[in-house]
Amino acid sequence: MIIDNKEEINLSVRLGNLFLKYPVMPASGTFGYGEEFFEIIDYSLFGALVTKGISLEPSKGNEMPRICETPCGLINSIGLENVGFERFKEEKINFLKKFNIPIIVNFFGKSIEEYSIMAEKLSDINGVSALEANISCPNVKEGGRSFGADPEIVYEIVSSIKNCSALPLIVKLTPLVTDIAMIAEVAEKAGADIISLVNTFPAASIDINKRKFKLSRGYGGLSGPAIKPIAIKLVNDVYNAVRIPIIGMGGISSWEDAVEFFMAGATAVAVGTGAFSNPHLISQITAGVKKFLYENNFSNIYEIIGIVNN
Ligand SMILES: Cc1cc2nc3c(=O)[nH]c(=O)nc-3n(C[C@H](O)[C@H](O)[C@H](O)COP(=O)(O)O)c2cc1C
Repeated sequence: MIIDNKEEINLSVRLGNLFLKYPVMPASGTFGYGEEFFEIIDYSLFGALVTKGISLEPSKGNEMPRICETPCGLINSIGLENVGFERFKEEKINFLKKFNIPIIVNFFGKSIEEYSIMAEKLSDINGVSALEANISCPNVKEGGRSFGADPEIVYEIVSSIKNCSALPLIVKLTPLVTDIAMIAEVAEKAGADIISLVNTFPAASIDINKRKFKLSRGYGGLSGPAIKPIAIKLVNDVYNAVRIPIIGMGGISSWEDAVEFFMAGATAVAVGTGAFSNPHLISQITAGVKKFLYENNFSNIYEIIGIVNN
């Protein structure tokens, strides 16, 4: 089929029961609750609005400094600062609803029970389109190891969330595991509708004059261009292991990067660190992907998803 008009290109994607007009969205935690950016950025080309991770109780996060730059990205140890469930429900969701774009609420818990409680409470809020469970957080009961690193716990968390909520469930994986494909398979078996990856990679940076770590907590999570090739590989690993759709992220800073993620197997992509230096990046990526599809005679995103495996 010859595409003779760029407007014929269809960028919409379906992630389980979640329908997105565009396949590009902000990555959780880099977009707050949408309030800081709406005066300077046009959200109309966003596939979804994605909130910062919410927990049952508010959290102040870690002491400053909690972000530092590296030559190819940044390290953060924000410590999951957030306004907590009640304030999110009373204040933040109403603002996000104004834009008529699907709202994905990222959330986390300190225990498996807390994940389920949060899923149930968030599902009762009118306007929430999907849940994204961040399972990279430390499981204090199990000595601080990430929930997402243990397949049995992943199964338990995902199935208990599914019992409490009918909303499409995105399970966001930690990259810090030996076999991410196996963890994704477990999440799929337990009922996940969508997988998102990657979260940040543990990292540290030292101020040699002060002889101290640059971040108050010492370690943080690395994001940005440095992690992109690793993320591409992990997305492809997961694509080969599951049938459910993938939201790919990690270091996307151009439309070419986004196309790489689609070709690796992502059905949609998220942009975090890259948007800090260019707030218009998401819309520019959407436009760039559309042009790429047009110029290469593809009519929709699905024609390039996982194409490297063909
Ligand atoms: C400052 C900051 C805060 C973040 N907060 C969250 C969060 O609350 N929940 C979550 O699941 N991921 C969080 N992330 C991870 C991002 O959503 C994303 O997975 C990661 O940064 C990789 O994408 P990027 O390289 O495009 O930034 C955060 C990342 C950054 C840089």
